[in-house]
Amino acid sequence: MSSSIDSHTSQTWGGRFSEATDAFVQEFTASYSFDHVLARYDIEGSRAHALMLNACGILTNEELADIRRGLDQVETEISAGSFKWRVELEDVHMNVEARLTEIIGDAGKKLHTGRSRNDQVATDIRLYLREAIVSIRGQMTRLRTGLIDQAETYADTIMPGFTHLQVAQPVTFGHHLLAWNEMLLRDDGRLADCAQRLNYCPLGSAALAGTSYPIDRHLTASALGFSGPTENSLDSVSDRDFAIEFTSAAAITMMHLSRMAEEMIIWTSAQFNFVDLPDRFCTGSSIMPQKKNPDVPELIRGKVGRVQGHLVALITLMKGQPLAYNKDNQEDKEPLFDAVRTVHDSLMALADLVPAMKAKPDAMRRAAGLGHPTATDLADYLVRKGIAFRDAHEIVGTAVGLAEAEGIDVAALSLETLKSLSDAVEEDVFKVLTLEGSVAARDHIGGTAPAQVRAAASRARAALD
Ligand code: ARG
Repeated sequence: MSSSIDSHTSQTWGGRFSEATDAFVQEFTASYSFDHVLARYDIEGSRAHALMLNACGILTNEELADIRRGLDQVETEISAGSFKWRVELEDVHMNVEARLTEIIGDAGKKLHTGRSRNDQVATDIRLYLREAIVSIRGQMTRLRTGLIDQAETYADTIMPGFTHLQVAQPVTFGHHLLAWNEMLLRDDGRLADCAQRLNYCPLGSAALAGTSYPIDRHLTASALGFSGPTENSLDSVSDRDFAIEFTSAAAITMMHLSRMAEEMIIWTSAQFNFVDLPDRFCTGSSIMPQKKNPDVPELIRGKVGRVQGHLVALITLMKGQPLAYNKDNQEDKEPLFDAVRTVHDSLMALADLVPAMKAKPDAMRRAAGLGHPTATDLADYLVRKGIAFRDAHEIVGTAVGLAEAEGIDVAALSLETLKSLSDAVEEDVFKVLTLEGSVAARDHIGGTAPAQVRAAASRARAALD
């Protein structure tokens, strides 16, 4: 490492040091290049802290007014891009404070009374994440609205339902889309829980033990819209479980988005041809002129890896840390910021895409007709006529064998053939063997009957707000 010739007095904590920080160490330990994202929240936190110090008689009215004016100017400079970030000031907190002092003089030096960067950063990230969750949930609501609208449009549209990716039983497309909505509803609940649990204010915990000034932590907390102050100063400055909890909820959400994306990718292939995605969400190939690739869903499927990686990074970052604050925690920001951006943008992309997705009912219907999808309905029919389910299963198995031998669907067997397998079979058997009959029969809550899909869609809509 090469030695820096910077003056050690340029650091805010330089007082007890006798040589300047090594230049590489300065770069290595600085975080302003990424934590500048927190500036807005840092300033908001400082405003609330100054307000509280004034209310408690620690800052004069004049000092408070100076600090407010100075913070406004710092905020303007940062948003205008004219703010000069200085590496020797390490992070967003010290950059903002140093500039404040440059602008207003001595009152700026008093802002840090009764606080530390440790409670400051723990507050900033909470404020940042609280707001990020609101905007992520906004995109989530857009996506869910699109799914519910489409479910209503396609409440009667029959498609094959799969298990093992083999045609199993017919379902409605609306029912399938509402399955996606259910996944997202739980994801949304996890985000809401996380936002509620993180909404306590660390300010006043100071470095780790609290502060000897006569502060009012309730006032600071309420000025910042927190539910209250955090309970324990050591815990407040050290744990990043709220960031881990968020990233975990984000990773689960991304896993769901990836499953949706995967189905869209399968559905748009020529082999399935179930849906059409508008050209504006697809791209072509530089060599194969006929190609229209589902890039947006593919990218979403690919981006899951990042968020799962960030979850592992954050939970690993935390696991070995003794109380209270350790510099390790500076590593929380980049994974968290990227998880926020990735889940937000992926939700946004799907929220744009889903309403534009067009089903191809004929192709879906043709596919639903492959693989004897109403065989279970035949067995259920026999059970209703008094045959035990296991015997019915056996009879239908034989019927499927006969149909296969003839190269037709079990629903296309003649009445005579069916009767030869069981004399319980009557003319009415063909009603249950149709695709419409099969879906309409599943007429209970959670079932695929069009009437149930419509009812479920309207409950899902009511749950949107
Ligand atoms: N940049 C630091 C972080 O992100 C702020 C807290 C620094 N505190 C300290 N005692 N060095 O965690």
